[in-house]
Amino acid sequence: MICDYEGSDYQSRFWKNADRSYEDAVERVAIRRLLPRTGRRVIEFGAGFGRLAELYTGYEQIVLLDYSRSLLEEGMQKWGSDPRFTFVAADIYNLPFVSGVLSAATMVRVIHHIADVPAALRRIREALAPGSSFVLEFANKRNVKAMARHTFGRQSWSPYAAEPVEFVKLNFDFHPRWMLDQVQQAGFSVQRKLSASYLRIGLLKRILPLRTMVAIDAVLQRTAGLGLFSPSVFLQMNTQGSTPTDQSALAGDAIFRSPRSGLPLRRAGDVLVCDGDGTRWRAHGNFYDFKEPVS
Ligand SMILES: C[S@@+](CC[C@H](N)C(=O)[O-])C[C@H]1O[C@@H](n2cnc3c(N)ncnc32)[C@H](O)[C@@H]1O
Repeated sequence: MICDYEGSDYQSRFWKNADRSYEDAVERVAIRRLLPRTGRRVIEFGAGFGRLAELYTGYEQIVLLDYSRSLLEEGMQKWGSDPRFTFVAADIYNLPFVSGVLSAATMVRVIHHIADVPAALRRIREALAPGSSFVLEFANKRNVKAMARHTFGRQSWSPYAAEPVEFVKLNFDFHPRWMLDQVQQAGFSVQRKLSASYLRIGLLKRILPLRTMVAIDAVLQRTAGLGLFSPSVFLQMNTQGSTPTDQSALAGDAIFRSPRSGLPLRRAGDVLVCDGDGTRWRAHGNFYDFKEPVS
């Protein structure tokens, strides 16, 4: 089951018309700290409208992947004319990439919509080359606010229980211990952790200047080693194995394979054709649609 953002007003409602400059700024601080600045091919899984895209411009190729075509189209309005960008409409559970073709990845504010975390992490791991960096943000159920609400009987679920809590349909919070187990089982080794957004409190946002909030958060992010109690946690992981894949051998359409069968694709006008499984996928300019095959 997929949390479908098709046609949603996510950009205007959640970011532009809401007071979330603090969250946006501290997420950028965390990604700048964790993601290598430069490299061959970076992808953001669940990139939405490309809010964080400028953080990737040190890379030779930037892939923004999302299940929502309409959000990707919003991203294309800003970044579509930059030849480094590729936009991919696809489902994280059915990725259309040749194994090991990606050299770095991020996923921010997305895994809380993923019901089958092990399956999604396996797919992501497979698409990344050995030695790649993967920066994952997840919503932490064992955060200070949840612990206080639980203590005072204002929240039925325990923030200390390891299993994920689905507080609204297809919206999950995760215990750090549980998430660390999942990423390790999927073949990632955790290098660094950051605790972000401790100051996500309406009153503080009203009284403190944004710059002060971000400066305090930047310090608090580094307390992750003492325990993860922030609402948002960033992990920087490496894929195990030390021999990087030769990324330059694959370019253009050659990075893709059929998400149905994993078999190769060939270009025929504005479609990619899979002779092996008979599917055809829309490919127009730098926009590729792997949500459903065309007839
Ligand atoms: C809360 S938004 C975050 C967008 C972006 N990462 C950001 O932080 O601005 C969640 C995004 O995840 C995408 N998403 C959810 N489930 C997905 C799936 N199975 N495959 C691909 N994208 C998915 C949604 O379409 C949506 O754009």
